[in-house]
Amino acid sequence: MGFTEKQEALVKESWEVMKQNIPEFSLRFFSLILEIAPAAKPMFSFLKDTDEIPQNNPKLKAHAIKVFKMTCESAIQLREKGEVVLSESTLQWLGSVHLQKGVIDPHFQVVKEALLRTVKEAMGEKWSEEMNGAWGEAYDQLANAIKDEMKAEA
Ligand code: HEM
Repeated sequence: MGFTEKQEALVKESWEVMKQNIPEFSLRFFSLILEIAPAAKPMFSFLKDTDEIPQNNPKLKAHAIKVFKMTCESAIQLREKGEVVLSESTLQWLGSVHLQKGVIDPHFQVVKEALLRTVKEAMGEKWSEEMNGAWGEAYDQLANAIKDEMKAEA
């Protein structure tokens, strides 16, 4: 079965909530990434020289917003078109940034885990397994597109 309207609505609904408090949720997202994979720290320019995760760092917020928002956009595309559609230039950019930073396939699983846990904490009682599944699927399809591009560019 394809991506349903219900799944799209669940992702949009939770992105609306997370959008209200980007400083908190972007910090939480990065804390979770480092909790799951401490070795990922040096890859991020804004983390490599600090012991603590910086509060209100624009680059940290930018990466969190990109991951949250592009996953939400993927959910919309999956429902509308049945696949994730990125422009050639966006895809090339995403592929080259991550290749250059030394990101490898297993890192995408780490970020997925951190994303799903952030959504769960943000949504509290409104969270559901179905919401979790919808985010997971939209993220996987987006991550696959990036990973394929990275392989093509490598
Ligand atoms: C940079 C998106 C997954 C590590 C970026 C940038 C974007 C992006 C758009 C460029 C930011 C900018 O220059 O403004 C995404 C999306 C992802 C994803 C949509 C998943 C769907 C990952 C993963 C890792 C990662 C799995 C590794 C754990 C990085 C690093 C940078 C970066 C290290 C450079 C950030 C810096 O040091 O300033 N990402 N990313 N990303 N990404 Fe990702």
